[in-house]
Amino acid sequence: MRFSLFSYIMLCIMCVCPGVASAAETAVPSGVTPLPNGITIKSGEYTLPGSGATFYIKGSSQTLASYLQDCKLRLHQAANYAKADIGIVIKSKKSVPTGSYTDESYTLSIAPRQIRIEAQTEAGAFYAIQTLMQMAAQQRRLQCCIINDSPAYRWRGLMFDVSRHFRPKAFLLKQLDAMAMLKLNVMHLHLTDGAGWRIQIDKYPRLTEFAAWRRERKWMDWVAQGKKYCDFSNEAYGGYYTKDDIREILAYATKRHITVIPEIEMPGHSEEVTSAYPEISCSGKAYTDYDFCAGKEATFTFLQNVLDEVIDLFPSPYIHIGGDEASKGGWHKCADCKKRMESLQLKNVDELQSYFINRIEKYVNQRGRQIIGWDEILEGGLTPNATVMSWRGTDGGIKAINDGHDAIMTPGEYCYLDYTQDAPFKEPLSIGGYTPLKQVYDYNPGATLTDTQKRHLLGIQGNLWSEYIPDDSHAEYMYYPRAFAIAETGWTNANLKQYDSFKKRALGLCEMMKADGYKTFDLAHEYGNRPESKTQIDHLAKGCKVKYNIPYGDKWKAAGDVTLTDGIVGGWTYTDRRWQGTTDNMDVVVDLGAVKDIHYIGANFMHSTGPWVYAPEKVDYYVSEDGSKYDHVATIHCDIPEGYDALLFKIYGTVYNGKARYVRMVAHKNYRDGAWLFTDEIIVN
Ligand code: ACM
Repeated sequence: MRFSLFSYIMLCIMCVCPGVASAAETAVPSGVTPLPNGITIKSGEYTLPGSGATFYIKGSSQTLASYLQDCKLRLHQAANYAKADIGIVIKSKKSVPTGSYTDESYTLSIAPRQIRIEAQTEAGAFYAIQTLMQMAAQQRRLQCCIINDSPAYRWRGLMFDVSRHFRPKAFLLKQLDAMAMLKLNVMHLHLTDGAGWRIQIDKYPRLTEFAAWRRERKWMDWVAQGKKYCDFSNEAYGGYYTKDDIREILAYATKRHITVIPEIEMPGHSEEVTSAYPEISCSGKAYTDYDFCAGKEATFTFLQNVLDEVIDLFPSPYIHIGGDEASKGGWHKCADCKKRMESLQLKNVDELQSYFINRIEKYVNQRGRQIIGWDEILEGGLTPNATVMSWRGTDGGIKAINDGHDAIMTPGEYCYLDYTQDAPFKEPLSIGGYTPLKQVYDYNPGATLTDTQKRHLLGIQGNLWSEYIPDDSHAEYMYYPRAFAIAETGWTNANLKQYDSFKKRALGLCEMMKADGYKTFDLAHEYGNRPESKTQIDHLAKGCKVKYNIPYGDKWKAAGDVTLTDGIVGGWTYTDRRWQGTTDNMDVVVDLGAVKDIHYIGANFMHSTGPWVYAPEKVDYYVSEDGSKYDHVATIHCDIPEGYDALLFKIYGTVYNGKARYVRMVAHKNYRDGAWLFTDEIIVN
C-alpha cells in the first residue's frame, strides 16, 4: 500500500477542519472526504491499537481479508468475531434495510470497546474501511459514532487519457489507490486516439508496433511535425499496455471495487488507426483520414475483431466507444459511404454516424455488454441501449435521460480537469479554461432533474485530457484536489455539501497525499480568479446599447446584447460566460445616447491557443455624431508573436480626442479556420 504511517502523522498535524480533531482530540467522521451521509455522534471514544489491531469477517471474503492485511491499518485476523477490534458482517441482500441502501452502503459503528461494520456486499464493507482509515489518519483515538452511509450516485469516475501521453502501469495502480480512498469507483481508460493506440491487439500488431509511437514528446512539437507515427525504436516516444498489464490493472482495481471501463474511439479521433491500416479509411491513404470509413465492410470487421479482444479482457458491463467529434469529412466524398447512405436511405452523414454506432452497439450487446458514448452519439438518432456521457454541457445527458437512456454527467465547465485550476500565469501550460476547485465542487448533476429523471442519472466523472500533460506528476497535480470534489459530489448528498468545510478537508488530504508521494496542486496558495474580474468597471459606454452588424452566435453569447457594455470584466476563461465569442468578425456600434467628448476607445481580447481562441488580426475603430457618417479613428494590429501559446489578454485601445455619439468597432478574426474571437467589454472614456 502506498499510504504510509508517516501520512497519518502528517494528517494529524495538518488537519484544521472545523469539527475535525486536532492532535489532542479525537478523530471525527466529519473530517472524512467524501463526507459521509448520516453521522450520529455518540459519547466516548475508541483507541485503535497502534499495531496489531484485529479484524474478523463474517460471511468471509478472501479479497477483503487480504486488502485489510495490506492496507495502511495493517490489520491481523482475529480468532473470532467477538474478539476482533473490527468486526465485519457482510449480510445477504434479503436481510438489509431498503430505501437509499445500495450495494455500496455500509454502517460503521464505533463504540468504546469495538468497531463494527455491516454491509450487504464486500464493496460496502470496503468503503466503511476507507472511512475508518481516513479517521485513523487524523488520530488513533476515534470519536464514538454510528455512520449510516450510502453514495449519492452509482457512477463516480475519473477518466485517464493515456493516448495523448502514455502512462505507465505503475501510475495507474497508484491512482487506483487514491481513487479507492476517495470512494471513486470507475476508472475510464481512454485507450485510443489520434495520438496513440495503447492496448495490445493480437490480430492487428501495427496498432502497437507503429500507432503507439512518435518521435516528439511535446504536443505542439508533434503537431508541428505533422502528427506522424513511427515504428518502435529506442528513440520512439509512447507505449502501450500488454494484455498482462491490463490483467494486472484489472485485478488491482477489482480488489478496490473499481470498475475499469475501456474506451475504443470510433468513428473519429482515429487517425492513428487509419494511418496504420489505411484500408479502413475513406481515402485508403495513411495520414489522410481522421475517421474510419463508414461505408467499407472492412471497417466493421476490424472493429469487431478489436472489440472481441477488448471484451475478452475487460469484464466491465460497459464498453465506451467514443463517438465524439467525428469530422465525417471524408464521408461526403467517399464512394463507399455514399453507396451505404443510398442503399440505407440515410439522409445525411449524421444518420450515417448513427448507423455506424447502431451497428457497433448491436455487436457489443450480442457480446453481453452495453455501450457508452460521448453525447455526439445523440446526433442522427440515439441507438437503443446506449448510455450517454454528457460533456458539451448537460443538455445531451438530459436529452438522453428524457428519452429513457442512462447518462453520466461530465460537463466541461465543471468536470474537465485539463483546464487550469488557478491563475494561468502561475500554472503549467494547459489546454486553456479555468476550473478552480470551487467550481468543480459547486456542480450538482441532479439539480434540475426530477426524481424520475434522476433514476437514469448514473453519476459524475472528472476527465483529464492530456495533450499538454506529458509528465505523470503533472497529471497528478491536475487530478488532486479536484478529484476530491468529483468524489464528494458523487458520494455526498447535495444538501450536505459545503465548500468551506470541504476546502479545509481538501487541504489536509493534499498534505496526506503529498506525504504518500503524490504531487498535488498547492491549494494553500491558490491565487484565484483574474483580479480585474472581481469588481465592475465604470466608463462612458457602460449600460449603453450595442447594435450588432454581425450577429454573435448562440454558443458563447455571454449575457447577449448587454455583454460588451455591462461593466463586467471576464475572468481567466470564457466559460465564465462573461466573454462574448464568435467565429466570425465582430462588427458592433455602441450608442452613447448623446454626442459626448471622448478621449479613449478600447476593447480587451482573449488569446488562448489551446481552445483555438485568438486575438484579432486587427481592430478598426470609427466614430460618428449622427450614426450615418463615420470617421475612421485607428487600426490596431495584433502584435502577439506567431506561436505564442500561453494565455494572454490583449487590449486593442487608442487615444481619440473628439466628439461622438456612435462608436463602431470592427474586430477582424484571426486567419485560422474556425478560430474564436472573444471580448468582454468595449470601453469608452
Ligand atoms: C471530448 O472532450 N471530446 C469528449
